[in-house]
Amino acid sequence: MTADKRGMHGIWSSRWTFILAATGSAVGLGNIWKFPYIAGENGGGAFVLVYLLCILTAGLPIMMAEVLLGRKARMSPIHTMERLTATAKAPRFFAGIGWMGAVAGFCILSFYSVIAGWTVYYAGKMATGAFSDIGGEQAGAIFGDLLADPQSLMLYHTIFMLLVGVVIARGVHRGLENAVRIMMPLLFIMLILLLGYSLTTPGFSQGFNFLFSFDFSKLSQESVVVALGHAFFTLSLGMGAIMAYGAYMPADASLGKTVLAVGILDTLVALAAGLVIFPIVFTNGLEPGAGPGLMFQTLPIAFGGLPGGVLIGTTFFVLVVIAAWSSAISIAEPAVAWCVEKGIGRGRSTFVVCALAWFLGIGTVFSFNDWSNNQFFVHVTPTAVEQADTRSVQLPSAEWFVYADVAELKLQYPSTESVSFQITGKTFFDVLDFLTANILLPLGGVLISLFAGWFLSRRSVADDARVNNAAIFEIWRFMIRFVSPVAVLFVFIHGIL
Ligand code: PHE
Repeated sequence: MTADKRGMHGIWSSRWTFILAATGSAVGLGNIWKFPYIAGENGGGAFVLVYLLCILTAGLPIMMAEVLLGRKARMSPIHTMERLTATAKAPRFFAGIGWMGAVAGFCILSFYSVIAGWTVYYAGKMATGAFSDIGGEQAGAIFGDLLADPQSLMLYHTIFMLLVGVVIARGVHRGLENAVRIMMPLLFIMLILLLGYSLTTPGFSQGFNFLFSFDFSKLSQESVVVALGHAFFTLSLGMGAIMAYGAYMPADASLGKTVLAVGILDTLVALAAGLVIFPIVFTNGLEPGAGPGLMFQTLPIAFGGLPGGVLIGTTFFVLVVIAAWSSAISIAEPAVAWCVEKGIGRGRSTFVVCALAWFLGIGTVFSFNDWSNNQFFVHVTPTAVEQADTRSVQLPSAEWFVYADVAELKLQYPSTESVSFQITGKTFFDVLDFLTANILLPLGGVLISLFAGWFLSRRSVADDARVNNAAIFEIWRFMIRFVSPVAVLFVFIHGIL
């Protein structure tokens, strides 16, 4: 029951345009900013391996499923899932996939825009030559100053959201295609250039080993959940972005190769970014677990040390802005498409969606300064301090709070000679990040795989998929029915408990 061949939002001009747009969606801050810093926080190699496994077992099959579902109904994810659920006579809650995706989309767009704002700031700062010949300490200070200043953060958040709105309002088709066609190849070239630089740094082998030596003792339960969540985030899965783009895909294009191309490109960019960043980390004595600031504290050092670094650095950050831009557009598109189907004009729909996400983004702006101590799910963990004479110390019990002011907690639990208190919690930004990447996206992914695997008949799926190679189709169908949902649920349930 393929709906009207074109749908109301138009169709990509070719399979290649779809690949470009989907790659534009997939390649973004997730690859260049997030992947290196979460790999750093989770100990490197083993994390990377788990992440790659998640891409293979869950990411690629679910991506195919999303494109397929979108193309079948040719509507926004909310309407697509409502319609397909009805025609397949599947349990009604599958229709909720689209709604859950919309919620996830708002949350992601809100913080994505704030972080993308940092890259806008860095593009400008680079151009002024502020980073020439700087070391780790100065790079850290410049970044610290930016985060401490909510007004600047707000300004760049606003600029970025406006950029996103302008393109979406014009229609994804015209607005996006041209940008992506030129910028994606350029971004690749820049990454290769940077890779050349990082190869010459003394820390290269250390950086390489950090990413590719699989030390499983460093892998915690939570790391596995984070790796899975990131596989969804980086491929733009579980919230409808790829489903929305699939709705604009030509009916005769084959799914298998198309999706594989997007998945491979996305993974290569992430690994390249890691291979650029970690050698610089080790060469300059920085912390691999530095968190969200990792990219901003390392790359400027590389540019500062390169001949022509001002130009190269500025170009690079402009490209990152564009990569983030093309991703942000795909995050907003499902909600905008839904509004349009409800009869609201495209311009007005764009305004409403972007304004809401902008407003929610204020929480992320303050997470890095005024509200950095206002945290949720705060754990206070006492540990015994090693002492010269090892009489056993009576440890107080661990505690946790749904919400707490961490600065006050630190006063309440001062570390002593025998006990030190570790206080960890999540800022507003951390909560949004965790809720979306680690809960909503995987959950959306499981539901999508169950729906595509168990509620659509083999025949209708085979017709829609246009996979030329029968073996590939069989492998996909096996993965989407058995492997993907089981793998995701297993990690998910383990992690949540
Ligand atoms: N995949 C994008 C990135 O890696 C982020 C994204 C998430 C885009 C979810 C769309 C949907 O930056």
